[in-house]
Amino acid sequence: MNTSLETSIGGVRLSHPVMNASGILGSEPEHVNILVEAGFSAIVTKTFTLEPREGYPPPILVKLESGGYLNAVGLANRGARYIPLLVERAKACGKPIVVSIGGRNAKEFTELAIIVEEAGATAVELNLSCPHVKGHGLDLGSDPSLVYELVKEVASAIKIPVIVKLGLSDRVVDSSGRALEAGAKALTLINAIRAMAIDVYSAKPVLSNRQGGLSGPPIKPIAVRVVFDVYREYKAEIVGCGGISSWKDAAEFILAGAKAVQVGSALLGNRNVANEIVKGLESWTSLLGYSRLAELVGMAHKD
Ligand SMILES: Cc1cc2nc3c(=O)[nH]c(=O)nc-3n(C[C@H](O)[C@H](O)[C@H](O)COP(=O)(O)O)c2cc1C
Repeated sequence: MNTSLETSIGGVRLSHPVMNASGILGSEPEHVNILVEAGFSAIVTKTFTLEPREGYPPPILVKLESGGYLNAVGLANRGARYIPLLVERAKACGKPIVVSIGGRNAKEFTELAIIVEEAGATAVELNLSCPHVKGHGLDLGSDPSLVYELVKEVASAIKIPVIVKLGLSDRVVDSSGRALEAGAKALTLINAIRAMAIDVYSAKPVLSNRQGGLSGPPIKPIAVRVVFDVYREYKAEIVGCGGISSWKDAAEFILAGAKAVQVGSALLGNRNVANEIVKGLESWTSLLGYSRLAELVGMAHKD
């Protein structure tokens, strides 16, 4: 039996559901080639801000003994002028490219979104979830009315699909609903979760920024729960993200309601992870007796 993993997000057709997550590669044009060769169906860039940002001094990324990673990169990036270089590279490879953008308010996000559209990108992902930069990301995304205003302004200024990436907060379900109401075509759920670790010998926080975002396997059950809750409430188009390193992890997100997934931390240790997930999802779909993976989206909601 021929198994199809085809899916779509915000009207963008994808040959399979496995994308990379923003910030793990995706900041340089040559990363685009690496990600294409690694088998991802669409490329997601690092979050770009209007002006270049240096980010925090090291240490910015640590592997935790208890599993997963803690990072506070500080949204380091080369600024919006660099966006067209990555878009051009993805187009030359024939791959859809989603440009992640980060601003402090609706005006900055809108300005960035217009740059992304004019560069010819396939879609834009609004980073309303970075857990470690004050006035950015989660500070905005955890306020549902702010999410509404911001997404509304961006969505009315551009024609390409707007994907909104939200992170863990008590109000993530509300923020998701408001984002959809304001014109988001899809949601990416979730980002790294605000966390910290302390070195017991130096008695100091391990990250230069003290606090950062926890990613990798420890956050997967939390991310699956958020996807499940948001899908149950709105039947939205969801890109599941958080702790995915195998086909089984991806399958859980799909059953919870995700139409696609993003892989971040796992890519730090395994450049073949996308191919492995795709292969596993193919076998799993046919093992369950289906010809299209799409039929399994949200299946865990059935009684
Ligand atoms: C080193 C690093 C840098 C990241 N940079 C970004 C970023 O620029 N924009 C963003 O939306 N998420 C960023 N993230 C979060 C990831 O995209 C992803 O949402 C999160 O790590 C959870 O997925 P994972 O467990 O597969 O890593 C970053 C994560 C890591 C580990």
